[in-house]
Amino acid sequence: MAKTKDKTVWFCSACGAQASKWEGRCSACGQWNTLVEERVKPVSRSASPVSKAGKSVPQAVSQIAALDEPRIHMPSEELNRVLGGGLVQGSLVLLGGEPGIGKSTLVLQNLLAIKSKTILYVSGEESATQLKLRADRIGRGSDNCFIVCETSLDNIFDHIADIQPGILVVDSIQTIASDALESSAGSVSQVRECAAQLLKYAKESGVPVILIGHINKEGSLAGPKVLEHIVDAVLQFEGDSQYMYRILRANKNRFGSTSELGIYEMCQHGLREVKNPSEMLVSQADIDLSGVAIGVTIEGARPFLIEVQALVSTAAYGTPQRSVTGFDGKRMNMLLAVLEKRVGFKLGQKDVFLNIAGGLKVNDPALDLAVISAILSSNVDMAIQRGTCFAGEVGLSGEIRPVARIEQRIAEAEKLGMQQMLIPKGNLKGINTKRLSIPLVEVSKVEEAFRALFA
Ligand code: TYD
Ligand code: MG
Repeated sequence: MAKTKDKTVWFCSACGAQASKWEGRCSACGQWNTLVEERVKPVSRSASPVSKAGKSVPQAVSQIAALDEPRIHMPSEELNRVLGGGLVQGSLVLLGGEPGIGKSTLVLQNLLAIKSKTILYVSGEESATQLKLRADRIGRGSDNCFIVCETSLDNIFDHIADIQPGILVVDSIQTIASDALESSAGSVSQVRECAAQLLKYAKESGVPVILIGHINKEGSLAGPKVLEHIVDAVLQFEGDSQYMYRILRANKNRFGSTSELGIYEMCQHGLREVKNPSEMLVSQADIDLSGVAIGVTIEGARPFLIEVQALVSTAAYGTPQRSVTGFDGKRMNMLLAVLEKRVGFKLGQKDVFLNIAGGLKVNDPALDLAVISAILSSNVDMAIQRGTCFAGEVGLSGEIRPVARIEQRIAEAEKLGMQQMLIPKGNLKGINTKRLSIPLVEVSKVEEAFRALFA
């Protein structure tokens, strides 16, 4: 009889590629020093806990019944929207995010509020008591949500057979391991094998499976890239854990748009949905302050108003400081160079601090105009007229360039009762200004914006 011999293989921790010997550089993705050694036992397929499905038959597209698979409506509307209208039966959803951001809270809070389904919450990280404490904090109990602390995939399938859940949660995929492989939990081969088995279970049983995943220090999901390929949706929960706002976005979604965005606030009793982000992100200070400008940004599909704060002061030391939070530092330096050259401000000897309110990170180039306005306002120490907001990209020669989806931005500014909005001249074409109640000030150069604001 042939002896089954354990095999040693090398896996790339970046792309999941397999190699038979160690190499300094992964031949598949070109990353250096990413190969890790793992021992694998050949998997006996008959031991697979998932029952064998019948053989599939090719069908003509027109013959396939368009089963309008009912989605499971999530209690949180923001989560529903990001999922594309609810959790699809038989889908595999991966939720990633930094430790402590609130992934477990988000999932538990939603599932405890679902009364119509049996839920199995598998936790490989926390004890049942810890989960109970969290549930108490959220302020909900539930008779149909079962919690089990388990790290063996085979035992998890036993629990599934007992409980027959309507929704399965695995928190987190990096902590569970299949007995078929010898490598430790969290290794490339384990993550891949466990995810593949859970995928098979989801597709065969029609039970949606939510996987919670860790992210590594570069900010991408830990484990092999194949994990992102096999799941139906990848949701990312992000935000600065020092601040209270959290953003949920879909990086991939086979059942909906990836441009949707959910905004939450971490409170004493769990996560609270933020229905109207603009109202929260713009401070309603009674006095006019210099160095504050309101930008109209679009994150995902949602426009909102956000406050940009700048402080320009004479440098105390020889080298001036530049400090930025929530905005790209290189972009700010570029904007400072434009101001120096086009408006003639001597910013070379000044400290410049820039902050985006609420701890959010904004990448929208349309915020440029608000950023330079805040810097100019602080530099001349004059407040921008109340009720003014901005949208516009600034180019290298100081020109204000048109931005995408200007109508949506104007509508949001109007909704929040803004009194005037500076927009790029190039955006004016195609907008029906007669219908608008908000006065638009069109600008085509940084100098013009400066004159419009402080003349
Ligand atoms: P958690 O869901 O455990 O994060 P993750 O699963 O992503 O690691 O929650 C993270 C933090 O949220 C925790 O440090 C405490 C805080 N928190 C609150 O502020 N209020 C609450 O009601 C709960 C449950 C948690
Ligand atoms: Mg957790």
